[in-house]
Amino acid sequence: MSLRVASCVVIVAALLGLAAEPSAQSAPGVGWVWSGGVTAHSAVVKARVARAGIPVRLVVIRGGDPAAALQVHDTRADDSGIASFELERLEPATRYEYRADVDGGAALTGTFRTFANGPWSFRLAFASCAETGSASSVFDAIRSSQPDLFIHMGDLHYEDIPVADVERFRRAYDAVMASPTQSRLYRSVPTAYMWDDHDYGSNNSDGSSASRPAALAAYRQVVPHYPLEERGLGGIHQAFSIGRVRVVMTDSRSRRTSGGGAPRERSMLGATQLRWLKRQLSEAADAPLVIWVNTVPWIAKPGSGSDDWGGYTVEREEIATHIDRLGLTRRLVMLSGDAHMVALDNGTHSNYATGAGPGRRGFAVMHAAPLDQSTSEKGGPYSHGLSRERGQYGLLQVADDGRTLKVELSGRDKAGGLIPGMRLMLTCAARACEAAR
Ligand SMILES: [Fe+2]
Repeated sequence: MSLRVASCVVIVAALLGLAAEPSAQSAPGVGWVWSGGVTAHSAVVKARVARAGIPVRLVVIRGGDPAAALQVHDTRADDSGIASFELERLEPATRYEYRADVDGGAALTGTFRTFANGPWSFRLAFASCAETGSASSVFDAIRSSQPDLFIHMGDLHYEDIPVADVERFRRAYDAVMASPTQSRLYRSVPTAYMWDDHDYGSNNSDGSSASRPAALAAYRQVVPHYPLEERGLGGIHQAFSIGRVRVVMTDSRSRRTSGGGAPRERSMLGATQLRWLKRQLSEAADAPLVIWVNTVPWIAKPGSGSDDWGGYTVEREEIATHIDRLGLTRRLVMLSGDAHMVALDNGTHSNYATGAGPGRRGFAVMHAAPLDQSTSEKGGPYSHGLSRERGQYGLLQVADDGRTLKVELSGRDKAGGLIPGMRLMLTCAARACEAAR
């Protein structure tokens, strides 16, 4: 995991062949490369190479500046041929280009833009659910929308691995990256990836899945992610800031209790992660906007018995009440996947806080899926209805002038076009977001 900054010299970008657009080269040198864990000053890059233990070099250059300072990071691939680079001392809100290289093999290039710490305008894309290795053009549409970050909300693949076999998980990631449209996207845009059931274990899997240790180990090895609170075989919940917005991503699988029992005995997040979530929300209580990435449907009838929060009503009420007491209900947006649909609720149906009756608005909830899968409908109702088409995703655009955040949530089709009716505009100021007319 460690990296060494071998040297830092000034050089002309053109001499290195670094292009603004990632190159289309492929193996036998570097098989794939992607970035994540991006902050204002740091990023993580992971690369797959053909052989274990060989030297791998990552060259990083500041974009748009032919005389930009260059970082050269040298490391060795691990026993599985994965190389990890932790980039530090980066400039905020700055585009960087990188090239992963091995001796005698083809290189791969990629790019990301660091975030800003203070007021900053940016764009997120978010979606879930694609067949293993899908080469759908929807990934090109996402790339064309030029987001600063792609939040993948799970079902990155559908291998449904039911056993503790880390190599199978690694091969599943390889299969995803073998897709030209996906690898182009992941080399062009940093990711924040939270799994769901099919890429963690089998359908509707939970903390009892035999796949759990392998899924957790492979995630830590292969995925460029934000710092994880839990070490070893702990869950992969994580949080980060982008501009003045706090993003919290929960893991709905690896800590979930299994089986039936009374709602009070069931937990979607597990006690440790629940405490972490509540603390994260408390610490974000002054943020003008909080995004909670919760992969599975929040709006669901109690005791529905399906794979959603309807089976975890006690925990749902506890979290909703915590959000309410913090005064965050009107400053929170939930992004979800799992259900193979785009659906949008403006808060009409999402308030499960203790004592919240009909008409007391909750937070906005948006589902965005499927990237490339057959469609389905889950949970609800949703104030703006839902759309069931293959090749859908969501965009969240923030315009921040330092006082007011203007937020646009929209559902997008396979060509990047607006899905009719799937748009919500919020103006966030004075500790509340109001729907714009
Ligand atoms: Fe799915």
